[in-house]
Amino acid sequence: MAAAKTEIAGVSLACYVFNASGVNDSTFEELEAIANSASPAIMMKSCTPEPRKGNDKPRYSMLPYGSIQCMGLPNLGCKEYIRFASKLKKYKKPIIASIAGFCPGDYKIMCEAFQKSDADLIEVNLSCPNIEGKSQIAYDTSLAEDILAEIWKIGKKPIGLKLPPYYDYANQEDMAELIKRFNVSFITCINSIGNALAINPETETTMLKPKKGFGGLCGDYIKPIALGNIRNFYELLDKEKNKVSIIGVGGIKSGSDAFEFLLAGADAVQVGTAFEREGPSCFKRINKELECILGKKGYKGVQEAKGGLKYL
Ligand code: SIN
Repeated sequence: MAAAKTEIAGVSLACYVFNASGVNDSTFEELEAIANSASPAIMMKSCTPEPRKGNDKPRYSMLPYGSIQCMGLPNLGCKEYIRFASKLKKYKKPIIASIAGFCPGDYKIMCEAFQKSDADLIEVNLSCPNIEGKSQIAYDTSLAEDILAEIWKIGKKPIGLKLPPYYDYANQEDMAELIKRFNVSFITCINSIGNALAINPETETTMLKPKKGFGGLCGDYIKPIALGNIRNFYELLDKEKNKVSIIGVGGIKSGSDAFEFLLAGADAVQVGTAFEREGPSCFKRINKELECILGKKGYKGVQEAKGGLKYL
């Protein structure tokens, strides 16, 4: 069977499919469950400089083809995840920190702290849609630029950006320019689709309490948008030179889904909603399914298939 080994920004992963930030990765026990699963990396919950309770409940609801959530960044605070990273080192899997601030200074403080930590990669979350009164940072190119200017030279650990979905090529071009200018090592796209609304017709109410029911849409609903973003960024980011690694996320629940992301140009993928539904066994299953597909199609590994989407 073809091995699905891969690499993100020079960091090796034993296989292609790991956990997405935000699902069962907030506490040390949850992170240990990921470490003990077939996930080839340990992705941690996006943290803020201080601990946060997050938004009021209910803030998560399953939907027929995915889920909607408005968590509001509940997390134990940056210092705790630095401590977790050192305790998780014994599992010998890459550890990925995720930071989400409210101003450039927040990102600077957390980036400095994680650069000195046992985390291997730092994902800079510019796309949380769930904070009342705040826009998703990556939709404001000048604020994103201010944040990157604060953090890009802080240390040697690779820095990546977690991006929101873009619906227009011009926005992807602007973001690709920033990514190149600040030597961003990897991108993770896409975050949930913000400002979705799910309604319960029985109770005639919203499904979620915070933000008048508006939240981030996840799962099957968002897969084609995620694929579109991956493909455009793959084209825009020097695909021949392989300089910027791309992590795909959005509606992956089978090896066949993961293979579609691979064809679009993703170096690895993350699983969120399927992990929530199925638990940590999903990583073994999806990685195996992908390896079977690669083997059946005669690919020796992910590199050979990466970006190989054919046009009609
Ligand atoms: C949340 O905690 O609200 C989700 C995080 C995110 O969307 O980035």
